[in-house]
Amino acid sequence: MDSQTQMKEAVADAAIKEVKSDMILGLGSGSTAALMIKRLANEINLGKLKNISGVATSFQSEVLALELDIPLIDLASVSQIDLAIDGADEVDPGFQLIKGGGACHVREKLVASKADQLLIVVDETKLVQNLNQSFPLPVEVLPNAWKQVQGVISEMNGSSYLRMATKKAGPVVTDQGNLVLDVLFNDGIKNPKEIEMNINNIPGVLENGLFVDLTDNVLVGKIENNTAVVYSPSKAG
Ligand code: 5RP
Repeated sequence: MDSQTQMKEAVADAAIKEVKSDMILGLGSGSTAALMIKRLANEINLGKLKNISGVATSFQSEVLALELDIPLIDLASVSQIDLAIDGADEVDPGFQLIKGGGACHVREKLVASKADQLLIVVDETKLVQNLNQSFPLPVEVLPNAWKQVQGVISEMNGSSYLRMATKKAGPVVTDQGNLVLDVLFNDGIKNPKEIEMNINNIPGVLENGLFVDLTDNVLVGKIENNTAVVYSPSKAG
């Protein structure tokens, strides 16, 4: 197993320790969240966790939960989620995030916003000093608006490209049937709150992958003496 997978496995394990019986859980998306969902199913099957209901953040997590017999409830039918556990693409020292590497950020943000606690699980490659220096910000756009949105983003000093699918000709189509622009700003993102609002204000934009002031805790996997260990950094500022 490569070291990044070892780190992901370790944080997935640690995250499950935060889950208690009777919880409504937000089930994140991506490879780290998928490992967490598999461990959750294991704990439920062993009878260690009882009466868990999951709220999926994507088609990916929904299919996985169904395959593993984790009871699911629809986002629309819950008024509150106890704990959401999700991965991230970038985490800054103040726990502001870029998400959407898997193009799931619309539902991920809805679930995170409804959760009492948002726990982010990452390997240490995801920790950055400043957001968007290297990982582009995903922006979900209505299909016939992508060119127009791209023009507005370029006026904001952002260069963007339409995310292309692999194993399918043409662009990535999201779970909602939209497209994704991946955006790099010339100087990165120093003011995530302002950028999040400004982008979401562009006509044709559904949601962007900046998660501002939503994260309560972060678990980070790292390799120490050839072994994956987990730590929980304190939030800066
Ligand atoms: C999907 C996401 C994922 O949580 C993010 O891309 C991290 O994925 P991984 O754990 O595979 O690195 O935001 O939209």
